Amino acid sequence: MAKMLGVWRKSGSRQGAADLAAAIQLQVFDGQLPLGTRLPAERELAEALGASRTMVGAALDRLRADGVVASRRGSGSWITSPRKAFPDPELSGRGLIDFARAAPPAVAGLIPAVDSARQLLAAELPEHGYFDQGLPVLRDRIAARFTARGLPTTPDEVMITNGAHHAFVLALRMLAGPGDRVLVEQPTYPNALEAIRGVHATAVPVALGDHGWDLDGIEAVLRQASPRLAYLVVDFHNPTGHRLDAAGRERLGSLLTRARTPAVVDETLVELDLEGDPVDGPPPLGRFAPDWTITIGSASKSHWGGLRIGWMRAPEELLGRLRSARYAVDLGSPVLEQLVFAELLADPRPRMAERREELRDRRDALVGALRWYCPDWEFRVPSGGLSVWCKLPEPMSTRLAVTAANHGLQIAPGSRFGVHGGLERRLRLPFALPAEQIHDAVRRLSTAAAAVRGGDRSGLDVPVA
Ligand SMILES: Cc1ncc(COP(=O)(O)O)c(C=O)c1O
Repeated sequence: MAKMLGVWRKSGSRQGAADLAAAIQLQVFDGQLPLGTRLPAERELAEALGASRTMVGAALDRLRADGVVASRRGSGSWITSPRKAFPDPELSGRGLIDFARAAPPAVAGLIPAVDSARQLLAAELPEHGYFDQGLPVLRDRIAARFTARGLPTTPDEVMITNGAHHAFVLALRMLAGPGDRVLVEQPTYPNALEAIRGVHATAVPVALGDHGWDLDGIEAVLRQASPRLAYLVVDFHNPTGHRLDAAGRERLGSLLTRARTPAVVDETLVELDLEGDPVDGPPPLGRFAPDWTITIGSASKSHWGGLRIGWMRAPEELLGRLRSARYAVDLGSPVLEQLVFAELLADPRPRMAERREELRDRRDALVGALRWYCPDWEFRVPSGGLSVWCKLPEPMSTRLAVTAANHGLQIAPGSRFGVHGGLERRLRLPFALPAEQIHDAVRRLSTAAAAVRGGDRSGLDVPVA
């Protein structure tokens, strides 16, 4: 819990209890401390946080007064209603602007694809409908896309899953177990960290800095920590937006091969190249370590998250084992959604061109708004993906997230992207919303940031803008 709370105390603040209450409230609001979660005893929490017991007691008093925490003598304290974590009832009713999720709406053309898929469904109905590896027509089209991008692939090397995250969890369950180490970039995609924790493995971070991958660092970790698996996002990395160039991929591929470490290469964002077609980009990492990579991908960001369609690509023998391991979890993906996506892939170019143009406009809107409202924030303009990774003028990401909620905004603090929290000077901002909403969100964010930096005691008392 101490790790989760991040840097909750404002330096020099004499409002420690308010700061702590606000940080706990943020975790509740963010879903990290779900309803019913039992809190540690005051003494333990005070010790872990390096705070006085009086301060922890005062913070809990505030949370009880706000209805976020309940306590009973002899039974301790637990989280009650996350709804009450919203400081302003008007906001909780209205909902906040979601500036945390990096997920765009559906592409145009989804409904016509559903209509043609309905027609195609008729041919499937006399059969049982279980395709544990996925519909052949869809595997064909996905394999062709890999081949076009420089990784020759047959349909037998592709399995359809319920999204990329599902694909990662399947690979993780098969390749890593309790106590095993999994190499990850730091920062990285928070749900991947969640999945690694879920199999009781340990994420071993290698920093991904302002200039991208530290391949020497990866080499050292492969040698010294002997991880069982690596999880890598080399195309428009989430959250930083970095993309590894072809030479870097070649070296990384040979490092994995030499260390005999399998890697899950997450290509969820690869199609969101805002400066060109991915067929002209660097080839997939799998090309440089064909026996040691499981490449996962998704329809979620290129077409729509609601399809819940993803895939994994691996050498046939390994894929066969992954397919068998799948029976412990599920028995295949829905046929209609696979048909819809296969229809969308029949000629994806016009829709993808539109998608890229839409996201380019949204990225530029975000960059423009940040330069206008937050001129002292630093960031790199990404050439693809869905987010800008900002460096804040001071370590305040968690406090900013708490305060932002009071300004009608939900944001994900930098700590969410770190193996052990931290990253308090960082904030990921997505460009998935329409340009006007992005503008409004950044305006609210700058007001929240001014309140945090101006020393408002915790953000919870900041009036709604
Ligand atoms: C890097 C990365 N991997 C996986 C996912 C989840 O993808 P899916 O919706 O296909 O499960 C996301 C979604 O944000 C992501 O950014």
